Amino acid sequence: MSDAAANPLKAGLEDVVVSTSDICFIDGHKGRLLYRGFDVDDLVAQSTFEEVTYLLWYGKLPSRKELDAHVKALSSTANRKLPPKLITMLRQLPKKTTPMEVLRTGVSALSAFDPDAADNSREATLRKSIRLTAQMPTLVAAWERIRRGKPVVAPNPKLSLSGNFLYMMTGKKPTELATKTFDVALILHADHEFNASTFAARVTAATLSDVHSGVVSGIGALKGPLHGGANEQVMLMVQKIKDPAKADAWIRQALADKARIMGFGHRVYRVEDPRAKHLKRLALELGQQAGSTVNIQILDIMAGVVSAAKHIFPNVDLYSGAAYASMGISTDQFTPIFAMSRVAGWAAHILEQHGNNRLIRPRSDYTGATDAKYVPLAER
Ligand SMILES: CC(C)(COP(=O)(O)OP(=O)(O)OC[C@H]1O[C@@H](n2cnc3c(N)ncnc32)[C@H](O)[C@@H]1OP(=O)(O)O)[C@@H](O)C(=O)NCCC(=O)NCCS
Repeated sequence: MSDAAANPLKAGLEDVVVSTSDICFIDGHKGRLLYRGFDVDDLVAQSTFEEVTYLLWYGKLPSRKELDAHVKALSSTANRKLPPKLITMLRQLPKKTTPMEVLRTGVSALSAFDPDAADNSREATLRKSIRLTAQMPTLVAAWERIRRGKPVVAPNPKLSLSGNFLYMMTGKKPTELATKTFDVALILHADHEFNASTFAARVTAATLSDVHSGVVSGIGALKGPLHGGANEQVMLMVQKIKDPAKADAWIRQALADKARIMGFGHRVYRVEDPRAKHLKRLALELGQQAGSTVNIQILDIMAGVVSAAKHIFPNVDLYSGAAYASMGISTDQFTPIFAMSRVAGWAAHILEQHGNNRLIRPRSDYTGATDAKYVPLAER
């Protein structure tokens, strides 16, 4: 049919390599994840989300001076605050608008206020990436307050990105454990090679479109339940099961019904996702502090049954929601939180794509008609 017909079709682009990249490496058989060569286990133990954004964007760990300047830029009120007109715009949205819809709309609107909107140079894209990473937590928290009829909390430049987000959500300074847990969750979600949302962001960037457009594409792709939306679905499932004593039978029935169990399986990992163990540990610590580990008990029973029965293992989305729920965060905010972190990866990939660009334009294996005869409307 076409030149493309000579190439074997790979459904879902499974294992298809579309580009070189220096940003992220996944070993799906050993369960390893590296950002710029650094094992994510080491970053979780020693780094911060702010430092990880520097690593992803600039390709190296910062010096003390570089890190201080970077943290200052990410924390400044000028970069964190939302334009008042955007807050007015948010107030016009129906209260039932989901946080992910608000984030997609809000990020798109932020480009209208961005002084560098029309500039696609590397320097301007870095400035916009800093602003977007600083603004997205404010946007997520502002909607949480608006939809609950509460006053919007202004960002506090003295707090880390994680601490400030939890503060803007609740109006109260978060505990050290909550801040640390949240920061680790952000580190773990910051990048993941050519996942669907990052690929979407790169496809958009490859048309020489701008970083806001790439991030909006990423948010749209992340929203679906087969990708970032899975963490919300996991918690809805746990809320349905409610009682650990019922978890075993519930999950066996779901498997017998051939249901797709959210929070399990992965296109690349053939073993447990290396991020899951960290989130499980933190969710357990937070649950113990909050006085209930029921959610973790249910998830553990599910993990045992699903792994043994299907040989598919927990992914990043299985335990993150339990950690967020222990902090009092609403279930439908889990995926926006994922986006607040993944914006770091999207921006890194957009910068890399722009640095060595070629339009991404694959082919389809055409299976439609080839000799259709046009029948005028009046004769149909
Ligand atoms: C992540 C995911 C989309 C990867 O999908 P994929 O690589 O396209 O794999 P497939 O959907 O082709 O699944 C391969 C097989 O495993 C099964 N499978 C994969 N994930 C499964 C899950 N979570 N629950 C039940 N069965 C699953 C499929 O039914 C299929 O079985 P079959 O060959 O007997 O039909 C998939 O594992 C999934 O839907 N997981 C749940 C959603 C989720 O947690 N997403 C977040 C990912 S980080």
